Amino acid sequence: MTTTAAQILSQFQATGVQTCFHDRHIEPQIYAGLDGTNWSIKDYEARGGYQALRRILGLDGAEGLTQDQVIATVKESGLRGRGGAGFPTGLKWSFMPRSFPGQKYLVCNSDEGEPGTCKDRDILQFNPHIVIEGMIIAAYAMGISVGYNYIHGEIFQTYDRFEEALEEARAAGYLGDKILGSNFSFQLHAAHGFGAYICGEETALLESLEGKKGQPRFKPPFPASFGLYGKPTTINNTETFAAVPWIIRNGGAAYLACGKPNNGGTKIFSVSGDVEKPGNYEVPLGTPFSKLLELAGGVRKGRQLKAVIPGGSSSPVLPASIIMECTMDYDSIAKAGSMLGSGAVIVMDDSRCMVEGLLRLSYFYMHESCGPCTPSREGTGWMWRVIDRIKHGHGRDADLDLLNSVADNIQGRTICALGDAAAMPVRAMIKHFRPEFEAMIQSGASRTAASV
Ligand SMILES: Cc1cc2nc3c(=O)[nH]c(=O)nc-3n(C[C@H](O)[C@H](O)[C@H](O)COP(=O)(O)O)c2cc1C
Ligand code: SF4
Repeated sequence: MTTTAAQILSQFQATGVQTCFHDRHIEPQIYAGLDGTNWSIKDYEARGGYQALRRILGLDGAEGLTQDQVIATVKESGLRGRGGAGFPTGLKWSFMPRSFPGQKYLVCNSDEGEPGTCKDRDILQFNPHIVIEGMIIAAYAMGISVGYNYIHGEIFQTYDRFEEALEEARAAGYLGDKILGSNFSFQLHAAHGFGAYICGEETALLESLEGKKGQPRFKPPFPASFGLYGKPTTINNTETFAAVPWIIRNGGAAYLACGKPNNGGTKIFSVSGDVEKPGNYEVPLGTPFSKLLELAGGVRKGRQLKAVIPGGSSSPVLPASIIMECTMDYDSIAKAGSMLGSGAVIVMDDSRCMVEGLLRLSYFYMHESCGPCTPSREGTGWMWRVIDRIKHGHGRDADLDLLNSVADNIQGRTICALGDAAAMPVRAMIKHFRPEFEAMIQSGASRTAASV
């Protein structure tokens, strides 16, 4: 029995979760025209899908694009990596040594383990061909013939959907040898992740893809020179690849103009926490935070906004007074002292205890630290134990300075950025909400929780 769009919508409505196809976006590109069921190749083609591929191959009546032209267009678009660091995508593509004589690889990072982030799974579930087309274009631009999409280990339905889409693309001649009769060949495969947060870090992902334990490598060398199986490799996030077909169809300047300078295009924000309508929202970069909050139905039950974690659990928290003045783009959020990260916006209302929030965050990083670096392995557990004793009424006067000192000794001293991700939330919580922590140390009880 086929599921109708209305049935899918009502399933989500029953859980109170808004999804990408609830018309809750401004100027959508990735989520345009989705209704929950129209993911297949014929639907995607009806929305203009695979036209960008035809364009670069010169199969739409016009002259095709060279590799340099594709990379120049992506550079012009201002597209920045949507996986967390916001690195310029066109620049990353230009690092690939195209003349390297051996095998080169393209990898899509669909591991999506950052707490609060749930956009990549929706893209793969509801619009898988947009990622496939984006990857084919990237492979063409960098002269790569083999690619993998590493999909988070616990979302089997999404993995199956992507496999189905791959089969459709192969059957239609968009993937495989001599794509659409051209001289360009590209084989793309799906790969299961192993459900660990650290496997989203690009070099740990490569280790995992090679069948080894997913632990980060020292950098340099970077994947562009020593990647999968030691060969030149480019890794991008799912949402990054999903932006590429629109850029090629409409031009780099048009994409840049959707956002603001240095922050081109739209971004999908996964809004969660204390809002009326949690879910994924695609809006132009540079949209005021207040507008995004309004789209998500505002703070739930008419309560006051207390704080927001703007870019996934590793990004520093911002109090309401600061975030309400921000626009949602890389530069504005960085200027405010945090990071846009993966775009997971965690909203906290005035009933929330910040010590409790930090306790959960620090437990997560202690649990996910993979071991080799002493500051990360020992420091994450140390921070959790100190926050735990504060939360349970055994805090000491020196604990906040101790936490800052441990965080200082983790940040910037580890193999991968998980160390920074564990340290930054601790420092930001103490910086912005110190009186709440001090009150709990003095009284042994949560001030906020007691007042609810
Ligand atoms: C601990 C850790 C976890 C990460 N998890 C993810 C992830 O789940 N998905 C992702 O795309 N990037 C993740 N990243 C970032 C990747 O290492 C990499 O920068 C990204 O995939 C590059 O793609 P982009 O340039 O398109 O953003 C993580 C980084 C760290 C340090
Ligand atoms: S920082 Fe932590 S997670 Fe990253 S490599 Fe070191 S021990 Fe592993």
